[in-house]
Amino acid sequence: MHTLIFATNNQNKVDEIQSLVGADFNIIPLKTAGINIDIPEPHDTLQENAAEKANTILNITNQNCFSEDTGLEILALQGAPGVKSARYAGEGRDFQANIDKVLSNLGTTENRNAQFRTVICLKWGNEKEGFQTHYFEGICKGNIATEMHGEKGFGYDPIFIPEGSTKSFAQMTMEEKNQYSHRQKAVTKLFEFLRSK
Ligand code: IMP
Repeated sequence: MHTLIFATNNQNKVDEIQSLVGADFNIIPLKTAGINIDIPEPHDTLQENAAEKANTILNITNQNCFSEDTGLEILALQGAPGVKSARYAGEGRDFQANIDKVLSNLGTTENRNAQFRTVICLKWGNEKEGFQTHYFEGICKGNIATEMHGEKGFGYDPIFIPEGSTKSFAQMTMEEKNQYSHRQKAVTKLFEFLRSK
């Protein structure tokens, strides 16, 4: 079994990814790896933030690790909240405040096209030969609802309806969400790569 440190403390994301990759890989979050830091996300792109997180963990552990950064990109808001999705309504990273701000900024706008985009940065290798950097992207297209639906999931799930469904992510089981999810698509690419190793 391969152990991979996942540069997050968000247990929802760990559970989602572990449920996708099965028993061949043991995905461990920062806390389990004994790392107690909150890595900043100071950059203007998802890719740079993902790279910053993975580099930080690699420097501390010298072990295979990956990070991801995700943003909700809303067409009528010129791509906002985008890379600032976690802190859209302020440093408190409050899911409800972020949702309220999106709904208020969109108002009655008819075009509610949006997408979630995930970028994964993997550091793969060993101490002797060094570590290589690889990126994997996953996109889930959909629409922003006019009000919240459902209680499951996290973040913007209650207002995001993926293309091909009438339910919001927050009305879906994890298995249903995985059929559409941006993270699932990026992780599938990541594990196709790892299986080839
Ligand atoms: P992060 O920086 O990758 O943790 O993601 C930024 C923000 O995007 C999170 O705080 C959530 O608000 C939101 N987000 C990321 N992934 C999802 C998802 O699958 N559903 C809903 N919101 C998400």
